[in-house]
Amino acid sequence: PAAGTVAPRLLAWFDRCGRHDLPWQRPRTPYRVWLSEIMLQQTQVRVVVPYFERFVAALPDIAALAAAPLDTVLALWSGLGYYARARNLHAAAQRCMQDHGGELPRDLAALTALPGIGRSTAGAILAQAWGERFPILDGNVKRVLARYHGIAGWPGAPAVEKRLWALAETHLPAQRLADYTQAQMDFGATLCTRFEPACGQCPLRDDCVALREGRIAELPTPKPG
Ligand code: ADE
Repeated sequence: PAAGTVAPRLLAWFDRCGRHDLPWQRPRTPYRVWLSEIMLQQTQVRVVVPYFERFVAALPDIAALAAAPLDTVLALWSGLGYYARARNLHAAAQRCMQDHGGELPRDLAALTALPGIGRSTAGAILAQAWGERFPILDGNVKRVLARYHGIAGWPGAPAVEKRLWALAETHLPAQRLADYTQAQMDFGATLCTRFEPACGQCPLRDDCVALREGRIAELPTPKPG
């Protein structure tokens, strides 16, 4: 289906229906974007918001996070679960102080070298914090791309994942990378959901392969075994 038209349609949908009042969008700083992306890795937006507000009020920047005792960081994380995320965040802040002049590095390789930051999270940070042209590929985006392009095979399989990354690249717009990143998250979370997606309201419905072929319910392919 038509590359080059996906991003404009998702952005127009985002302008009408996306989330524009999330606390990490105002103000949008690298630290706040990073913290939000780590919290959002395994936790839904509505749960994250109050934890995010409390965390940035107590530890407003990288230097404050790096200097805080680990116990303080874990206490602020208490209730969010997956505490390795908090330990990695703390260690990464200390690495930023030691190796990157107290800043988050604006660089894919340096970001993914930090604990807790994989390729998709690094892309989400680069795009949202600096407007850099990098794709994301979390579970929601994998589902959207597998359906839109009609790609069978478990998206966790390396060969499938490689195809999905390549497709994610081809759809990147030239502008509005921060909005486009949030648009994909919001689209996957609210319209192109795992169960009962709202295809009737979908801005991509005219050329979605899975919809045309009646394969929405079977894509993405579940993990084998
Ligand atoms: N999951 C990961 N990042 C997210 C974001 N920025 N908004 C909503 N869900 C997300």
